[in-house]
Amino acid sequence: MRFSGKTVVVTGAASGIGAAATALFAREGAVVFASDIDVEGGEKLARETEGDVRFLACDVCDPAAIKALMDRAAGETGGIDTVFNNAGAGGARPNIAEIEPDEWDRTMDLLLRSVAFGIRYAVPHMKGRKGASIVNVSSVAAVGPGYSPTAYAVAKAGVLHLTKCAATDLAQHGIRVNAVQPGFINTNIFTASLEIPDEVKTQAKAMIAQMSSNAQPVARGGQPIDIANAVAFLASEEAGFMTGASLIVDGGLTLGPRHSWDPEEGGAFEALIALEEQMKAAQQTA
Ligand code: NAI
Repeated sequence: MRFSGKTVVVTGAASGIGAAATALFAREGAVVFASDIDVEGGEKLARETEGDVRFLACDVCDPAAIKALMDRAAGETGGIDTVFNNAGAGGARPNIAEIEPDEWDRTMDLLLRSVAFGIRYAVPHMKGRKGASIVNVSSVAAVGPGYSPTAYAVAKAGVLHLTKCAATDLAQHGIRVNAVQPGFINTNIFTASLEIPDEVKTQAKAMIAQMSSNAQPVARGGQPIDIANAVAFLASEEAGFMTGASLIVDGGLTLGPRHSWDPEEGGAFEALIALEEQMKAAQQTA
């Protein structure tokens, strides 16, 4: 019961990582204000999740809605101890040669400005609370190109830098700020924006589950609870000496190219060794 008596706000709580974190915080004693743009999904989550989970609709692209969320959570409980800035989606798909200004802005508003104002409007309610802590969702996409579309990757890299700057700004108030960088986690994010019929979406989800199961050195798919566990750790007093940090939770996805951990996948160096062996064998038979 690490969060007994604590008030926690989670954005993007109706699905995936947010839903898993909501359930974990609630199970460990927190009053959780679970917010999402998906009202039906959020209300279902609040009904079906064990513990004190209260759903509030909030579109994180609207700073006024974020302020209303934080004010309401604090108004009902007296303050906020933890914010998990998690809401997100894949963002604009075009690369830098093709993206339009409004696509860029929408992606930044959803993935980066939302985090800035999730912090901004929570802070007045967090000052002076013992163990106050903010956790932001970045991504392995912040490590380098190749994991997501460009605008998403840039926004998630921004979240990492924002996390560090906020950690220094808020140290004087005793508020820690950290980030988590999930790898390939099996959630709806990959199919949510696809314009395909529901039955095809089910097939697409099965494909994603299969792909995620062997995409990284750890030989299973990443699950929302893997990230929720890291988030709860960062939010808890166990991480009381951590601020401005980020935890990569990716089953080793970003450690190196596939051939470095998958014996089935020959790399360039292995190809050279094989060539050397062939040459030696040819010399011996000559
Ligand atoms: P998900 O699609 O399962 O859940 C995202 C939730 O955010 C949904 O409930 C959705 O309704 C909500 N949301 C979307 N736009 C919103 C808005 N404007 N206002 C409020 N809520 C909104 O996705 P998942 O995977 O759980 O994603 C959570 C976070 O984790 C996102 O920020 C995502 O970028 C990040 N992430 C996910 C990874 C993955 O492999 N699943 C990898 C790295 C980062």
